[in-house]
Amino acid sequence: MPDSTFSQPSAVCPTTISVARSALGDRFQAEALAESLALDNLGVVRPRDVRDFPIVLFLDEQGLSVQVTGKGAPGPVRAEFVTGKMGYRREHGGGAGQMVAKAVGLQKTRASLHVVDATAGLGQDGFILASLGCRVTLFERNPVIHALLADGLARASLNSDCSAIVERMQLREGSSIDWLAQPDTEAADVIYLDPMFPHRDKSALVKKEMQVFRTIVGDDGDSGQLLAGALERARYRVVVKRPRKAPIIEGPEPTTRIEGKSSRYDVYSIRALPPQ
Ligand SMILES: C[S@@+](CC[C@H](N)C(=O)[O-])C[C@H]1O[C@@H](n2cnc3c(N)ncnc32)[C@H](O)[C@@H]1O
Repeated sequence: MPDSTFSQPSAVCPTTISVARSALGDRFQAEALAESLALDNLGVVRPRDVRDFPIVLFLDEQGLSVQVTGKGAPGPVRAEFVTGKMGYRREHGGGAGQMVAKAVGLQKTRASLHVVDATAGLGQDGFILASLGCRVTLFERNPVIHALLADGLARASLNSDCSAIVERMQLREGSSIDWLAQPDTEAADVIYLDPMFPHRDKSALVKKEMQVFRTIVGDDGDSGQLLAGALERARYRVVVKRPRKAPIIEGPEPTTRIEGKSSRYDVYSIRALPPQ
């Protein structure tokens, strides 16, 4: 569940994003969000009618989302674990045979692993690992993405199929690079990284939801520093998710690679996972 004790929010661009809600969106939550992120609060609007802000952080009866404004804009983007893609994957997913599970090493151990997801985003990979029994600590440094993920986890915690999974997930706000650099940081079994990769190829932006995500987050230009910190603190391995054809993160060569259709996992082994 969300924990804001490690709080180092970076600034959100107040000329790009504002907070808004539908008539059914929680007014108090909207006010609190606008205040904590120092954003304008537009009150009750229809995103298609908003002209002054290209993106709204929007509260409606389904929770919090980001929405591009104006006519013909793509649909909302939210952290969703109960329904949609993640709901389907939770019910029909391939268990420990999934690529991400293999990369983390879940087939090689029966121990319950503590995974630090150092680039949480909308929490999809973290949720999959928690649904496979891992205890997952998630770091997200972008305050808007953190708010979306906190909202998604809070909604999922109220669902009987998801609550036990969400209990294994702890969300923290701030940079995992800073956390890794703290001298008293406890080692994690596995550190999982999926930083934004700078796509120059426009065809890679097919998914409209990825475009809004990219507008909010930008590129994670410090992934070399993140990998170096993770290699210092992981007990068994560091796993990096990359687009299949992307170069490795600057630093040492991975020990192995697991390749799928569109993504690849670079595995940096430190020592063998415990069998039990
Ligand atoms: C590609 S997304 C991760 C997607 C995620 N794996 C998922 O399944 O939803 C990358 C995210 O990592 C965050 N991020 C990158 N570097 C970070 C850092 N050092 N500390 C915390 N968050 C970071 C970015 O803000 C962005 O939201």
